[in-house]
Amino acid sequence: MKKFIIGSIVCVLFLVSALVVFATGENIISMRLGGDQPAEAPGEKSYSFFAERMKEETDGQIIITVYPNAVLGDNLELIEQVQAGVLEISTASMGWLNSFVPIVDVFSTPYLFRDKEHYWKVLDGEVGHEIAGYIEGAGMKLLYWVDAGARSFYNNVRPIYTPDDLKGLKIRVMGSEVMIKTMKALGASPTTTSFDEVYSALQTGIIDGAENNPPSINLMKHNEVAKYFSVDEHMMVPDCLLINLDVWNKLTEEQQDIFIKLSKEAQEFAKEEWAKQEEEALEIIAETTEINEIPDKSDFIEAVKSLQESLSDQFEGYIEKIQAVK
Ligand code: GCU
Repeated sequence: MKKFIIGSIVCVLFLVSALVVFATGENIISMRLGGDQPAEAPGEKSYSFFAERMKEETDGQIIITVYPNAVLGDNLELIEQVQAGVLEISTASMGWLNSFVPIVDVFSTPYLFRDKEHYWKVLDGEVGHEIAGYIEGAGMKLLYWVDAGARSFYNNVRPIYTPDDLKGLKIRVMGSEVMIKTMKALGASPTTTSFDEVYSALQTGIIDGAENNPPSINLMKHNEVAKYFSVDEHMMVPDCLLINLDVWNKLTEEQQDIFIKLSKEAQEFAKEEWAKQEEEALEIIAETTEINEIPDKSDFIEAVKSLQESLSDQFEGYIEKIQAVK
């Protein structure tokens, strides 16, 4: 009798576990996607859109769970995890990715792009494609470039009209040699801080200021702790979405095609969202912070000219290649 009861229990347990395996579907591929911005940010919204569309297009066979707000780590840590294969997908700013793929620091070259149209022609063209090849060489595949607008200064000391106004100001930058050199060329004292620590660094006066695009400043509420925002638009440093290369290579060709198709959709989604949010962000920033435009940027451009020339060799002619894109 005892044997019968034990046997029955074992049988039931076996059936239950078989059912669980069946119900959860052995074939379902689950991936985690790490972001470093609030969920409402244009890029993050495009990642959620991408995940939703993926579920639809694969009939639930590929499930991507998005973790915004740096809950899985700051940008540097997220990229590290994707490269190591402990995280499948992550956002990446070129201002952080350069630690793993040095050539992408070319995108932090000040006044590199003429305008948004030029930026997209470069990213979606041959240069963008070649840079994606370098990223692949570091074990990660670029799914799509994400609009990250133009970066400008905000600080608590004075409005910036010319590079002279930056003298002696401690300005936070991303983990990029080119950003550090740019700040020095403009007369500021750069310091690298992770994105999620900028608010408190501004609040406590550890830094005098930082530089970023309007939607990021607004969504991270940096304007609450910054008196002046000066629109000098010194660089346009793109973000992108990355997937671990081994994870990518394990997908079937059909699944890869779905990723490629949805990447295009999500990129467009992010662009539209960006355009909407950039305007709105400036209006919200203006409620707390004095904004000044800098219509003539020639002093800034002049101050970084020799830096640009010196970066030319380091980036294997990419600065010239980018500038030549019409
Ligand atoms: C931008 C970018 C982020 C990046 C951040 C930063 O907002 O979109 O990906 O982390 O700048 O300054 O660190």
